[in-house]
Amino acid sequence: MRIAVARETDPAEDRVAATPDTVKKLKSLGADVAVEPGAGTKSGIPDGEFTAAGAMVAADAVANADVVLKVRRPNAIELAKYKKGTIVIAIMDPYGNETALKAMADAGVSAFAMELMPRITRAQSMDVLSSQANLAGYRAVIDASAEYGRALPMMMTAAGTVPAAKVFVMGVGVAGLQAIATARRLGAVVTAIDVRPAVKEQVQSLGAKFIAVEDDEFKQAETAGGYAKEMSKEYQAKQAALVADHIKKQDIVITTALIPGRPAPRLVSKDMVASMRPGSVIVDLAVERGGNVEGAKPGEVAAVNGVKIVGHLNVAGRLAASASALYAKNLLTFLDLMIDKPAKSLAVPWDDEIVKATVLTRDGAVVHPSFAPKSAA
Ligand code: NAI
Repeated sequence: MRIAVARETDPAEDRVAATPDTVKKLKSLGADVAVEPGAGTKSGIPDGEFTAAGAMVAADAVANADVVLKVRRPNAIELAKYKKGTIVIAIMDPYGNETALKAMADAGVSAFAMELMPRITRAQSMDVLSSQANLAGYRAVIDASAEYGRALPMMMTAAGTVPAAKVFVMGVGVAGLQAIATARRLGAVVTAIDVRPAVKEQVQSLGAKFIAVEDDEFKQAETAGGYAKEMSKEYQAKQAALVADHIKKQDIVITTALIPGRPAPRLVSKDMVASMRPGSVIVDLAVERGGNVEGAKPGEVAAVNGVKIVGHLNVAGRLAASASALYAKNLLTFLDLMIDKPAKSLAVPWDDEIVKATVLTRDGAVVHPSFAPKSAA
């Protein structure tokens, strides 16, 4: 059983799919681990630490690998290096990328998308959306405070009082909850909005105030999977009126709202941005999925009438060492499911609900029901 850890080819990706700690565990499960040179450099893990953990560092690590661990979906050049039947596990970004999925099928690899992990108790330790969103929520507040020309906590000094910053978090899933907790720790006065009723108590338990349009549609806004539904035009209009009134009094706004498989909902309009005080900061964590904020630019800090709109990409990757450690652990627990311990060999339980939910391609075809060509689905 040969497991390879690839070096990411996207220059914007600083994370790595294994750590010395997970390499040791994989070795103890009977795997030979090979790491591409420099794979961990941007996460603060020199090759020597992988070697000390028992891995081989080799330029041809992925050739003949049974499993390739990656952060991002492999491109055509990478795929050409894998043998047929290789299991490739990564964050695959499958929605709207059918051509790339077909390329993986054509390469004959069995591709698994970590972000399709079902949200069941057994899979909690494999949940990359949670592990990465948690860090992104934290980093959003740090990035916002770095752009904000004032202090977050209230400070009473002999030279006068600095008022506490008002922070508004829009979308309170994993990232939003961590943003609230971080902003509270920094002493800000925090409010938050979401469309799922379950969130209200969580927001309040973190010492923040919950605001929302709490009508009948709100009561049904959560899917069985725990995600938000796309809201009706009528609801969106009511929510926009509420937000418009609230946002003009805020110093920092952090938006995290997502709907699986859909573009991010637009929650902050140009007019709302214009209503904010110069010097205010908005961080749009949904910018990669179309953005919650009008005027947010992917990968940029845009300035609109003195309001900064922060659109950093791959925000979890801005904390690469922490993000890699958690991601590597997610992969390890997922891979553990595919290893026959006594035989110390790979044995993918194809009928397991976790495997069925995450497998995208197998035996030359796109097999996931959400992405397979209609006739094959
Ligand atoms: P997400 O990243 O899909 O969305 C972020 C937040 O945006 C969600 O809270 C969503 O309700 C909100 N949102 C969507 N549309 C909105 C709109 N129009 N206006 C305002 N807010 C809007 O969500 P995430 O972080 O993936 O979490 C979804 C749920 O799954 C949460 O309840 C979380 O606690 C739960 N969860 C369960 C796990 C498990 O059981 N294993 C693991 C992780 C999360």
